[in-house]
Amino acid sequence: HPRGADGRHRRVPAREGSRQLIDVRHEGGAAVVTVDRPDALNALDLETLTALRDQLRRLSEDVDTKVVVLTGAGDRAFIAGADIKYMSGLDVEQAKAWGELGHEAARLLETMPQPTIAAINGFALGGGCELALACDLRYASSKAKLGQPEINLGIIPGWGGTQRLARATTLGFAKELILTGRTVGADEALERGLVNAVTEPEDLLPRVMETALQLAAKSPLALEAAKQAINRALSGDHAENLARESDRFGELFASEDAKEGLTAFAEKREPKFVGR
Ligand code: HXC
Repeated sequence: HPRGADGRHRRVPAREGSRQLIDVRHEGGAAVVTVDRPDALNALDLETLTALRDQLRRLSEDVDTKVVVLTGAGDRAFIAGADIKYMSGLDVEQAKAWGELGHEAARLLETMPQPTIAAINGFALGGGCELALACDLRYASSKAKLGQPEINLGIIPGWGGTQRLARATTLGFAKELILTGRTVGADEALERGLVNAVTEPEDLLPRVMETALQLAAKSPLALEAAKQAINRALSGDHAENLARESDRFGELFASEDAKEGLTAFAEKREPKFVGR
């Protein structure tokens, strides 16, 4: 710690003083967000989760970011959950705020205009599985392990797992995983619809980036409209949701992108979308 002239610890701006816990890299329209705490298997403590929420919020408003990829540093873990040591000191009010902070991060992944992709490169447990579930797409390494082991700590999933796991898979499977705390390998996760695809570990990032760059070339207006419409599919009124789909479909015809896409097909060329 640097000391001031009086010998006491000086306050250091966070960015200089501490290691970056969330690494963000931009690659061809995709932002790759890496939770970088490999010594703790990328478990999320208050500082790390706050930084993740802040980065997601920033990216959600960045028009140059077309797709967001979430992954974990190292070759062992995506995110091994909320930091258990941090949680062991919380009282009821602090635990509620902690739950809400994770919900905020998850909600951003679920509702930001851009598609979000989880690259699950290892353990995705507890809160890690919950953040993956909030992403639009999930790709897993064959070495990944997923689950909601909170029950073994005397607690329950608190960042959306009870709802999103049931929606992504089935009510019965969600109850099994959450009540028993059993973790599943990548193949079982695939069979259950918990992940979209499984790759060899070394193929995971290339596969995810290939998909991310494909998405980055599409119309962001159409992607956002599709994402928002699908997000409503399992809640609210079905007839109303269909009517809303119809509206959004129609509204897209005011965009340059729809004109471009429909014209490019007729002209037998690749469309070039501009996000208007
Ligand atoms: C804090 C964690 C951690 C976690 C791992 N570590 N997971 N620290 N919180 N969730 C730390 C370990 O303490 C250890 O640090 C280091 O990472 C390596 O982990 P090991 O246990 O030594 O590795 P291994 O034996 O290979 O076992 C891997 C593991 C195990 C099976 C993933 O670490 C594990 O069971 N972790 C907890 C998983 C879990 O229960 N997650 C859900 C948390 S509850 P040291 O310094 O000791 O070497 C949750 C709630 C979310 O997420 C909602 C909140 C509202």
